[in-house]
Amino acid sequence: MKNKITFFLFASAFASLLQAQTPVYLDPSKDIEARVEDALSRMTLAEKIDVIHAQSKFSSAGVKRLGLPDFWTDDGPHGVRPDVLWDEWEQAGQTNDSCVAFPALTCLAASWNPDCARAYGHALGEEALYRGKGMILGPGVNIYRTPLGGRNFEYMGEDPYLTSRIVVPYVQGLQSCGVASCVKHYCLNNDEQYRHQVNVIISDRALHEIYLPGFEAAVKEGKAWGIMGAYNLYKDEHNCHNQYTLNKILKHDWGFDGVVVSDWGGAHNMDQAVKNGLDMEFGTWTDGLTMGATNAYDMYYLSKGYQKAILEGKYTTKELDEKVRRVLRLFFRTTMNKQKPYGFLCSESHYEVAQQVAAEGIVLLQNEGNVLPIKPEGKKILVVGENAIKMMTVGGGSSSLKAQHEISPLQGLQMRLKGKAAVEFARGYVGDVSGDYNGVTTGQNLKDDRAPEVLLAEAVEMAKAADYVVIFGGLNKSGHQDCEGTDRKTMALPYNQDKLIEAIAAVNKQTIYVNISGNAVCMPWRKQVPAIVQGWFLGSEAGIGLADVLLGNTNPSGHLPFTWYEDLNQVGAHSFGEAAFPGIWREGKKIIDEEYKEGIYVGYRWMDKQKLKPAFAFGHGLSYTSFKVSGLKAASKETADGNMTFTVDVTNTGSVEGSDVVQLYITDQKCSVDRPAKELKAFQKVSLKPGETKTVTLRTDRRALSFWDEQAGDWKAEPGDFIAWAGDSSDRLPCKVKFVLK
Ligand code: BGC
Repeated sequence: MKNKITFFLFASAFASLLQAQTPVYLDPSKDIEARVEDALSRMTLAEKIDVIHAQSKFSSAGVKRLGLPDFWTDDGPHGVRPDVLWDEWEQAGQTNDSCVAFPALTCLAASWNPDCARAYGHALGEEALYRGKGMILGPGVNIYRTPLGGRNFEYMGEDPYLTSRIVVPYVQGLQSCGVASCVKHYCLNNDEQYRHQVNVIISDRALHEIYLPGFEAAVKEGKAWGIMGAYNLYKDEHNCHNQYTLNKILKHDWGFDGVVVSDWGGAHNMDQAVKNGLDMEFGTWTDGLTMGATNAYDMYYLSKGYQKAILEGKYTTKELDEKVRRVLRLFFRTTMNKQKPYGFLCSESHYEVAQQVAAEGIVLLQNEGNVLPIKPEGKKILVVGENAIKMMTVGGGSSSLKAQHEISPLQGLQMRLKGKAAVEFARGYVGDVSGDYNGVTTGQNLKDDRAPEVLLAEAVEMAKAADYVVIFGGLNKSGHQDCEGTDRKTMALPYNQDKLIEAIAAVNKQTIYVNISGNAVCMPWRKQVPAIVQGWFLGSEAGIGLADVLLGNTNPSGHLPFTWYEDLNQVGAHSFGEAAFPGIWREGKKIIDEEYKEGIYVGYRWMDKQKLKPAFAFGHGLSYTSFKVSGLKAASKETADGNMTFTVDVTNTGSVEGSDVVQLYITDQKCSVDRPAKELKAFQKVSLKPGETKTVTLRTDRRALSFWDEQAGDWKAEPGDFIAWAGDSSDRLPCKVKFVLK
């Protein structure tokens, strides 16, 4: 009897031990929603709390008892960020986290090619899978409101339509790998300096017509699985827990079924975090980056305190279950997704994508006397400037990478010109010699103690003896340049580059200036320098991408995704004093109100309204061939439902193969509200052999004719006369056709 009892006790203890330790795997044959409900019904309160907040800098807990793995996120958006320590920003020191650095998103947008964006997202997804990441923190779709914006390089330019067409395939490409996209920073995070304190004041029209469409497209068409709330405030609530932007617009109006992730340290208050749409809390008490408590995860707003408040009856589990449902849905789409492909790191195909995007995104801004492409045979080519040698994949904030390799512009030219031409280098100026971020160092020693006059004199002397001079200048990824957390202080080029460029152009008629940046810069010497190229931040293959364009192996086909203003006087955001930028501090200096007084008139919309001529217009981009856009026709002269089909011919009138971007803009001729002179509503990139003509079909829908009706809180298209314009730049639209919305 005693033995029997002992056996029974032993057996039942063993059984309960087994029950406690064996994962209760969920039935994989059920569809996602059924699995979500199944998992939810089995989770304890503590387990539910665990999955809605971080457990380390970039991960949150799964539910091991149910076989749900921990969830790992990572930046984003140009490559997969190297691993940091569990609770510190220093490097973990992995040997398998060197990645392919893809061109920055400004370059991707400048390709005007949705296929490039899909390939980009997919390649990035494969890298993320290899690294065990379930979510990439990107892409960024905040609108380029001012050229001072420190993070513009991570975004897709000034136009909501172009941004929408690029973000959708990026998200789809990435998520086809079973890796979630976390589209950021939702919303109105258009400058950096006071990003934690800025409260944006904006009209409903500007919000809906300019600043939200990129997010809306990512959600409705791209079906993004994640959205990152922005640091700043809107209607006096932080955007990581904002009743209006998250609960109403994102989740209710757009039907978003994914997770809202806080930007790192963007949650500020338990009650709002519980009620106002936040689903996963990351980075709290890290002050975004460095300060605060260590291993503070239990202290998060959506952690133990929330659990206690539920147990004490302050909240029911209604909001909690809703958050957990979304997190579980994310798990089943990513870590628990059995259809996921395998991941690859640094594969050839990823480098090809990086090169392709660079090739399609580099913009030829100016080419007087056809100085470009360089005819190198037997020539002496002088390369000048710090940006010819400086690695740009390290720095700039959270998008900083540890690239497997980065080919500098100088190396690219040397590689391509080996045995064909002599390539010399002069430093020209010393800018910023630092090269580290979070413990990743470039390993470059860029120190040069010579005086600025000495460097300038050397470059000018060498320029006199060269057949061509290629100056690589612009910005870099240090603070107050193209860098997270700060904005630029001026639109001028730093480090006295203007003086250097002018001096070189004065002694060499074949001077080419390549600008490396994610932002427009002032170019007071523009008329003296025959050729100007916008070279972005191009990642691993930068040097190859640039050399191929300069030498004509690639015919440039990038077009500007933003207006290249002459100076800040031309910028809407800078035309209303400090109230409109950077804002005015409230008493107590905790909140700074920034009122977007230019409203919907951002970029070319502003230039048109003010009748200003920029240095280079939105949509501008030259080629080594020439194109003619002609014969715009509307399939019908009137529409009842708002859908329109247009055809337009594009002819390559030059002697080499090339690609043009046909752009269609629409004007509402008479409307009860003030409307922009024209707005981009369709485009297509077409490749053409010399002499070839293609007829391009462009379709627009009712939304293309609509404005945001503030009274109705909805889109409205007013019947009446419209004009469609076609051409290949916002300031070069030779064709027009009229039509009527009935
Ligand atoms: C940035 C985000 C980034 C996050 C995690 C924040 O400071 O604003 O864009 O994804 O850090 O690194």
